[in-house]
Amino acid sequence: CGIIGYVGHDDALPILRKGLSNLEYRGYDSAGIALGGDRLNVYKKKGELSALEAVLPESSTATTGIGHTRWSTHGEPTDANAHPHTDESGDVAVVHNGIIENYDALRAELESRGHEFTSDTDTEVVPHLVEEELASDRDLVDVVSSVVDRLEGNYALGVVVAGRDGIVATRSGNPLVLGVADHGTFLASDVPAFVEHTRQVSYPEEGDIIHLTEDGATTYADGKEVSREVQEVDWDPEAAEKGGYEHYMLKEIHEQPTALRQAISGRIDEMKGQVDLELDLPAEYLNSLEEVQFIACGTSYHAGLYAAKLFEEYADVRASAEIASEYEFTGGRDPWRTLVVAVTQSGETADTLSALKRAKRAGARTLAVTNTLGSTVTREVDDTVFIRAGPEIGVAATKTFCSQVATLALVAVHVSRKRGTISSAEAQELLSDLRGLPGAVQQVLDAEGQVRLAAEEHGDGDAFFFIGRRLGAPVALEGALKLKEISYDHAEGFPAGELKHGPLALVTSETPVLAVLTEGAKARETLNNVKEVESRGAPVIGCASDVVDAEKFVDKVFTVPELGELEPLVANVYFQLFSYYVANQKGRSIDKPRNLAKSVTVE
Ligand code: G6P
Repeated sequence: CGIIGYVGHDDALPILRKGLSNLEYRGYDSAGIALGGDRLNVYKKKGELSALEAVLPESSTATTGIGHTRWSTHGEPTDANAHPHTDESGDVAVVHNGIIENYDALRAELESRGHEFTSDTDTEVVPHLVEEELASDRDLVDVVSSVVDRLEGNYALGVVVAGRDGIVATRSGNPLVLGVADHGTFLASDVPAFVEHTRQVSYPEEGDIIHLTEDGATTYADGKEVSREVQEVDWDPEAAEKGGYEHYMLKEIHEQPTALRQAISGRIDEMKGQVDLELDLPAEYLNSLEEVQFIACGTSYHAGLYAAKLFEEYADVRASAEIASEYEFTGGRDPWRTLVVAVTQSGETADTLSALKRAKRAGARTLAVTNTLGSTVTREVDDTVFIRAGPEIGVAATKTFCSQVATLALVAVHVSRKRGTISSAEAQELLSDLRGLPGAVQQVLDAEGQVRLAAEEHGDGDAFFFIGRRLGAPVALEGALKLKEISYDHAEGFPAGELKHGPLALVTSETPVLAVLTEGAKARETLNNVKEVESRGAPVIGCASDVVDAEKFVDKVFTVPELGELEPLVANVYFQLFSYYVANQKGRSIDKPRNLAKSVTVE
């Protein structure tokens, strides 16, 4: 989602309008604006920004306001679920980016005290809490500080109150940036929102509470006023939209720790070894389950392959991933005992939707794992789990792959626990690895320089081969897909054991081989395959954890932190970066590769 706020000497409305249009890439399923003053005026609308434009007044004298463009995580895209959210008096308006994990409990508590809710969002608890605290007639900074003490989860918040000066903002786990211009002060989730007004920015730290007025921003940490460094960004508006990165794809690769935190947020009870996905799958049905089929295309298919291995391992059920365009649901299976899981980032892929229809006709129960609330797939299935990765703009899927696998791992834990096929200790281990995933991915991102050097050294290969076993096999397929999509080089992924059955004939000193050598990927066996290619002169790059002494056998090692069954997923981030840098040095059209589309709505 994208947040913008302005308080200053100029009219707020045109500034907020333009800010929202600059932020549309962060979400575009609904949008809204609240204009401040003695009374607040709130306008919000489902759909693209043009829908909001149609209900906005032509002009306004307000010089304070907040705006929001939404990518839904809680609650369908509707007018009521659009931000800003208000309390029943209409005197408090709030924009929010992130997830409030304990909103259920807070909502119940507020309802018991007579508050009436008008949306399905987690955000709406905030204006009601602010309203209660305001009753004690305190300073708005104090009020927001008491409210955030009650919140669990990730958030960036902007609050305006009728008759009170300025905007109060805070953040925890979600981004927020402040900008100071001659004519006023800005708040946004990202610099492009206000880049045409100022390049003087500062980044609040976790937990900071900021009071924005027309003269600037005052920041408080632990109740005391603090100062935060002001920096000058030299980005042009186009670069600003990419967060200063050269391409959306690189930005999205770097967003993975945040996206993963959102995927697991509020869904894990590590102590009990349980997950809460608000799924409607009855225990009786899960106990009689005989088969799980993941249907998907492209990158999502690879996420399905990863998930199928996890399901076989933990849920003790036959599991397979099937390419949607090849999917047949014919004889031999018991549809009533088959769960069909459609994995689709967009929720609109025609091949996946038509495979899903086939499964439904046969009588199977269906589940969707998707990034897009309100998408077609969500209307076709019995249950949906959202991956909450935020919009992905680069055609080559990166953060959504990681978030799909993480979310599917949560589903695997849910099903396995219900079926009693894993102990709470095993579940706790997997859940603790899931919690460690954002940090492990960050460690890979911190090693980006090494990957760029390797891409410079090996980017001219005639072809590239990716190998891995078990959970490393789908990652090898995904690594090769990424490289071919954006670099246009010939790249193939193989289950490592298959190399010797054919592809080995293609291996020469001009064909770099990239191998997954981690826990969960049978690294020791794969080392034998590494030796086979090395003896044919191929340069080998290994994404390796401590389970093997990779240095002895490969030319270059990218270190994967210890993370059990999720290590191959972390290795994949090296492959993403490698593909990116190979393609970039060749000057390819990375965000929009030739002949490819982000969402393919024809069969
Ligand atoms: C297209 C995209 C791929 C994507 C596939 C499936 O081919 O270019 O990146 O993996 O569709 O998309 P979905 O939205 O169903 O995950």
